[in-house]
Amino acid sequence: MSAPLVLGIETSCDETGVALVRGKDLLFDAVASSMDEHARFGGIIPEIASRAHLEAMVPTIRRALEGADVDLGQVDAIAVTAGPGLVGPLTIGAAAAKALSIGLGVPLYGVNHVIGHAAVDELVHGSFPDQVMALVVSGGHSSLLLVDDIVTGVTELGSTLDDAAGEAFDKVGRLLGLPYPGGPHIDRLAREGDPTAIRFPRGLTAAKDQAEHAYDFSFSGLKTAVARWVETRTDAGQEIPVADVAASFAAAVADVLTAKTIAACRRHGVSTLVIGGGFSANSQLRDLAAVRCAEAGIELRIPPIRFCTDNGAMIAALGSAALSRGVAPSRLDLPVDSSMPL
Ligand code: KG4
Ligand code: ZN
Repeated sequence: MSAPLVLGIETSCDETGVALVRGKDLLFDAVASSMDEHARFGGIIPEIASRAHLEAMVPTIRRALEGADVDLGQVDAIAVTAGPGLVGPLTIGAAAAKALSIGLGVPLYGVNHVIGHAAVDELVHGSFPDQVMALVVSGGHSSLLLVDDIVTGVTELGSTLDDAAGEAFDKVGRLLGLPYPGGPHIDRLAREGDPTAIRFPRGLTAAKDQAEHAYDFSFSGLKTAVARWVETRTDAGQEIPVADVAASFAAAVADVLTAKTIAACRRHGVSTLVIGGGFSANSQLRDLAAVRCAEAGIELRIPPIRFCTDNGAMIAALGSAALSRGVAPSRLDLPVDSSMPL
């Protein structure tokens, strides 16, 4: 008998994602984004995102069903992001998922978005070995997860104490006068600059921080250091070597993320690393992770970019995993939780 068909819905931020997964096979993944509507405001506007989800929801569900060549009546379970994320957008997705669950008479699984970013890799690169380390980095989160089981055994070893990696890039992008979101622009500029030009601080790597925050990240001090550096030069009437600033800043972020992640792999004897989340598109992180993983004998798994940014496949993957383990479904009064813990 074939595995149950799971429809996954993701609406935690600006992407409306709907996907159909059977077991660990992705049948189709449809995504609509409202990013173009937010860009001119320099950040995501939750009200605009909510309205866009409401408009895109049914067409995106239809597109996913057509793409997978299945009827709604064939769906065996619904999975939906219950958090973390923006409350309004999460509520639109949860409402749609509950309506489908009631209408079809199938179980509902509310799942964690951050874990979804790791789970999606199983659809791409196959089942995880017994243990994997997952680094989930995006505009909203930077978390290091030790994964013994993607449903029942995820331990958060560390997370950011302030800005997420992508958020820090976007803020530095703003102070360098780059368009929103600044992350991809800094990445591009950094490739033309000298990463050793300026020695920016590496947050929480000092010996005194290691005991308490061995696997936590902090990027706000780094962001302030970049702001001060730029301000001092600007006040003195000097030109800002933008590419060198971008390269030095990007090198600092990649250095801390990879050093701490690989230290965690060593400490826990884990030999597979999964990197997910929209920030895993960053070339400085990818390049350094590839070099350091090779040196440490760690297998590096990074899904293609469209599965790193927010999507429905990650949620369907996690719902499918929960179903296969016989986990009890969520109640139909499932709440959404903007700061949902793991
Ligand atoms: O996962 P995602 O699409 O949305 C969130 O859930 O946040 O991640 C988007 C974040 C933004 O902060 C964006 O600037 C950053 O990831 N980002 C990048 C790159 N591509 C996206 N940052 C640096 N380099 C990139 N190539
Ligand atoms: Zn995300």
